[in-house]
Amino acid sequence: MLTRLQGWCISLSLLGVLIFPLASSAQLTTEDIDSRLNTESHVGNLTGHASSSTVKYDYRRYCVGCHGDLGDGNGEVAQWLDPPMWPKPRDFQLGIFKCRSTPTGTLPTDQDLYDTIGRGLDRSAMPIWNVLTKQERVDLVAWVKHFSPRFVGEKPGAPIPIPTEPEVTPERVKAGQDVFARVQCWKCHGVTGQANGPSASTLTDDQGRAIAPYNFSDGSRPKCGSTDQDIYRIFMTGLDGTPMPSFADNIKPDEAWDLVFFLRTLQPNNEYNKREKEIAQQLNLKPLNALKLSQ
Ligand code: HEC
Ligand code: HEC
Repeated sequence: MLTRLQGWCISLSLLGVLIFPLASSAQLTTEDIDSRLNTESHVGNLTGHASSSTVKYDYRRYCVGCHGDLGDGNGEVAQWLDPPMWPKPRDFQLGIFKCRSTPTGTLPTDQDLYDTIGRGLDRSAMPIWNVLTKQERVDLVAWVKHFSPRFVGEKPGAPIPIPTEPEVTPERVKAGQDVFARVQCWKCHGVTGQANGPSASTLTDDQGRAIAPYNFSDGSRPKCGSTDQDIYRIFMTGLDGTPMPSFADNIKPDEAWDLVFFLRTLQPNNEYNKREKEIAQQLNLKPLNALKLSQ
């Protein structure tokens, strides 16, 4: 018979075997990361410094529990977050971000990271950090950047142009539905936008973790902003690290606005979509026929 102590020792060593591969996924060392303490950020007329005397403490206090000491997303809380309901905290060492104004594959601007920190990420554990002062948030942008060597060699992409928003018309709403059909948004998001398209249940992110498409009908906020401009930007830049691609090569700027107007008809009433909902009702707009689409 094993003594209780022996039992514990065996469980602990088994645990060690299981945990080791996870722990070793942190690629960068503290020395490597510290070598980038001169990282800066610029937002409006504020400059952020990874070397500021307070940012280290702000990060320890507000961020480390999820994002971890080394910024690799392995904070203490991370183990309790189970995708797809609860996405894992971002690994800052990779330098890959969902919310960007810049083309897919490129780094976000400092302003993008600043906006994300103040906005939080709905449908995730990432809180809204607008209780912190602007200077604290700008310093945290520099701190987030200093975890990834990408920010040393690469510049952020040039923000994608967003033309002035045209007037919503019935023709545009209908044309938007045609774009939605043509570029196959419905494959993931479903014909009614309820996150139930044929591919929805099979999706994984770049880390191989399950991820669900956005459900337009459940009233939740898109992670990267709720305005018409934000929606336009989301599908023209894509959410890097996720299966949500960039459509910049498949959708022309004018069509992109049509699509934004159509997407509004899929959402429950909100402050942005009064006109689109009225138009959909007048047109008696019917969901696409998924069967017909897949033929
Ligand atoms: C309770 C956990 C938690 C805390 C605390 C937290 N985050 Fe996050 N954070 C997350 C999760 C989870 C994600 C990924 C969400 C997703 O992918 O939808 C994330 C993502 C991010 C991203 C990436 C956004 C993108 O565009 O990909 C940034 C930047 C970020 N957090 C910054 C911070 C900063 C700065 C703090 C501290 C002020 C902080 N986080 C505190 C959980 C947390
Ligand atoms: C291959 C599957 C796939 C296709 C095709 C796809 N999406 Fe997505 N989309 C996703 C996933 C997955 C997410 C959720 C990402 C997340 O939560 O991090 C998403 C999120 C979104 C969001 C919300 C983003 C946010 O910030 O929360 C919008 C808006 C969106 N998609 C619009 C579109 C439009 C419009 C199209 C077609 C032009 C489209 N998607 C095509 C998978 C897809």
